Amino acid sequence: MYKRTHTCGELRKSNVGEVVSLNGWVNTVRLHGQVVFVDLRDRYGKTQVVFDTESFSGDFEAVKKLSMEDVLSIRGTISDRDETAINPNIDTGEIEVAVSEYIMLNEASPLPFVLNDRENAEENLRLKYRYLELRMDELQHNILTRHKTYQATRGFLSDNNFVEVETPVLMKSTPEGARDYLVPSRIHNGKFYALPQSPQIYKQILMISGYDRYFQIVKCFRDEDLRADRQPEFTQIDIEMSFVDENEIFFHMEGMTRHIFKSVQNIDLPDPFLRLTYAEAMETYGSDKPDLRYEMRLKDVKEFTDVSEFNAFKSAAVVKGLVVEGGAKYSRKIIDELTNHVKKYKAKGLAWMKAEDGVFMGGISKFFSDELQQSMFEKLSVNHGDILFMIGDNASIALNALGHLRVDIARREKLFSNDQFIPVWITEFPMFDYDDETERFIAMHHPFTAPRDEDVEKLDSDPSNALSRGYDLTMNGNEIAGGSIRIHSPKIQEKVFSLLGLSQDEAVEKFGFLVEALTYGAPPHGGIAFGFDRLVMLLAGTDNIRDVIAFPKTTSATSIMDQSPSNVGIDQLNELGILIKKTE
Ligand code: AMO
Repeated sequence: MYKRTHTCGELRKSNVGEVVSLNGWVNTVRLHGQVVFVDLRDRYGKTQVVFDTESFSGDFEAVKKLSMEDVLSIRGTISDRDETAINPNIDTGEIEVAVSEYIMLNEASPLPFVLNDRENAEENLRLKYRYLELRMDELQHNILTRHKTYQATRGFLSDNNFVEVETPVLMKSTPEGARDYLVPSRIHNGKFYALPQSPQIYKQILMISGYDRYFQIVKCFRDEDLRADRQPEFTQIDIEMSFVDENEIFFHMEGMTRHIFKSVQNIDLPDPFLRLTYAEAMETYGSDKPDLRYEMRLKDVKEFTDVSEFNAFKSAAVVKGLVVEGGAKYSRKIIDELTNHVKKYKAKGLAWMKAEDGVFMGGISKFFSDELQQSMFEKLSVNHGDILFMIGDNASIALNALGHLRVDIARREKLFSNDQFIPVWITEFPMFDYDDETERFIAMHHPFTAPRDEDVEKLDSDPSNALSRGYDLTMNGNEIAGGSIRIHSPKIQEKVFSLLGLSQDEAVEKFGFLVEALTYGAPPHGGIAFGFDRLVMLLAGTDNIRDVIAFPKTTSATSIMDQSPSNVGIDQLNELGILIKKTE
């Protein structure tokens, strides 16, 4: 192999006449009579290298057989391209290298898919040959964006006195939220470690130990149903701070987020970020991660439906509406699609009427008198050509279903630009969700989240209406971070455990060490964790989490390339004292 003098993205007109050596992959080969043009590629770019009988005296027949992804080492002289042959689309487009000699470092087998046509290769095939997919421009760009994001994060946090501490990957199983991934112990037969769903308990303990600004870029593991923005193992920027309130945490996290966007993509984010309470976000946008790149606010329409002759909504606790500008163009088919969409979120149906020349037409409009229609036009700011959608139900179904409709319509109508980024804090989440199936409270964030001071008393009198000091950071409809001010009083912590259905004994068994630690001088503290992969998705402009992880898992939590999970040998199982009850 010739020692490379330059990368494949480096050579310019000013290098003409130099003798250089390049190493890289054959990106394309073109035969032109007695001349062979090869684009040689590495992660820095592509350079055209030319084999012609004038400068190259080796085996020309072998050169003609070069194929895509062969690995070559070449030596040659840089020359200007003819005016007509200049390629303005690549940085090296003004020059080419006349090859004098070359070494074939490795021949590539025929490829399972064409490397510059990602769209047309099936994803499972790309995941099986992930090492090939990772050679593609788009993924190389994403992996680089990810790298820059790590550096920007570490730089900012370290400059602001945050200390990076690693916490264990093998820990005690404390299921809460998602299911744990378990790791059997050979030394302690029958016992298991769990992989951390997050380092939550450790980082709180680090506060008790006095490391008042902690961070870690850390892998977390959750055995849960996967979606386009979820992976079973994912990365967090995990943060905890002592002697702080929400405002101080927001101040630092806004600074960090602004720094990352600026240094990775030269994007200026607002200062300060917007804030909405959970109740405001749900009422106005039907979502706790509202996309604020477009308006389309939900409106209360019960005062109108109650005095109409449309009876189906009379018994509904709330009736919410969404006015879609220009939506009168929607065909029956589109309205049916939208109806099916809201039904996924438990809405029974989707009522509608179209605004045409100052009156409502179609749908349920005949149940609304002329006078009522006039007042709706005015109060709901309806214009000619709009459509009004309505859902009546209990508040959570009506808001959530219309919130999803809002997002779906914004996508159809392309109401947002991918270059705009609007971060919003969501605050004052309820402490608990009530799970009807198990008839118990579930922590809306996690069991260590503090109630608002004014709601402590509600833990006894009215827990379902107690609000917490939890918060999320959202951006363009994504939850990119979540956190809270923590409980630092052992008494309140015990109270919350008991509301979550954990007896004193169970709480001690699961979290005893934390509760005990809280008694040894725990400072007031709070923190947050950013979904690192989601942040990189936004920075890289993709909505698929697998596009920003070098070796991701599929939605069924498998890795097609290395075929995990896999069976293990009987000896390994015996050593662990494990008997498999059922195999597939
Ligand atoms: P939470 O569970 O909200 O909080 O997680 C924090 C952030 O991590 C991201 N995230 C995920 N990303 C990809 N795949 C997943 N399966 C996944 N699950 C979560 C989200 C989310 O906002 N310990 C607390 C934080 C704290 O209270 O400080 C925690 O883990 O972007």
